[in-house]
Amino acid sequence: MIDFNSGTELPNKFLGSEKKTTLLYNNEIYMIKFPDPIRDKNNTLSYMNNQFSEHIGCRIFRVCGLSAQETILGAYTDKTGRKKIVVGCKDFTQDGTTLYECSKLANAIVTVDEKIKATIENVRLIIQETDFIKDKTGATTQFWDMFVVDALLGNNDRHLDNWGFLSKDNEFSPAPVYDCGSSLGALLSDDQMRRLLDDEIEFNSIEYNTKSCYSLNGQRIFYHKIFKTPPNELNEAIRRITPRIDLELVKETVLSTEGISDIRKEYLIKSLTVRYERILAPALKQILKRQG
Ligand SMILES: Nc1ncnc2c1ncn2[C@@H]1O[C@H](COP(=O)(O)OP(=O)(O)OP(=O)(O)O)[C@@H](O)[C@H]1O
Ligand SMILES: [Mg+2]
Repeated sequence: MIDFNSGTELPNKFLGSEKKTTLLYNNEIYMIKFPDPIRDKNNTLSYMNNQFSEHIGCRIFRVCGLSAQETILGAYTDKTGRKKIVVGCKDFTQDGTTLYECSKLANAIVTVDEKIKATIENVRLIIQETDFIKDKTGATTQFWDMFVVDALLGNNDRHLDNWGFLSKDNEFSPAPVYDCGSSLGALLSDDQMRRLLDDEIEFNSIEYNTKSCYSLNGQRIFYHKIFKTPPNELNEAIRRITPRIDLELVKETVLSTEGISDIRKEYLIKSLTVRYERILAPALKQILKRQG
């Protein structure tokens, strides 16, 4: 594993739910994400495994043919002398482009004192009403393709700050996928994973019953439900993306990850397989059957 302390610290340019560090490493700028502390008193873990989920999640996006940030796992000793495994996310704005998270575009549809909610209706409206987004079809494709892979990852955190557009000279294009840190069992300890692997009912209730952070028609979306009766845009995305998913390559992505236990690998592979085989693959089969 690489040592990020050999990089040069730069003034930090990234915000987010937890503090970040910005480094120049191998002549590239990286946002360093640390294991996030856990605020829930009922969770016995002291730190999340979000750095591994970030790395594996972004790699799976790329394996599925979508553009996602490049990540590297590495060691980093902080100023207090504590050594941690962190993930370095290569800054995709270092060429002078600006990232506009979708939430920043909400001005097109809400007044200044309204908080924008994560709903499918709002995503459609933002794309429709933001004049800077010229390619409406491209932006719709971007969101729904990401939705399909998020269903595979069981990601419930793709809120409006966690995807967006890159802009250069006010020309908007889809930004690479970033922030997959809350997916892929990031809040589970190895012991919990070991127990869940022996408890089919509990395993399915956590890993099959996953929710998106979006609501549609006033109801929070369960991935397994919306894939049974997909709206048109999702229907198209399932047809585009599902045939591109090579489950063996996805498994290989997990197996080749440094720094995680065999139990975590087994758990992630089982959960990805369950969602692929019980949510994504049947949805594609149903769509192709309807087509005749
Ligand atoms: N590779 C990248 N290049 C440029 N900007 C990025 C990149 N990744 C993230 N960002 C920006 O940094 C912000 C924080 O990153 P991110 O969303 O990954 O962290 P976070 O929300 O704190 O993560 P988590 O929810 O896992 O704690 C993002 O909202 C985005 O504005
Ligand atoms: Mg985020």
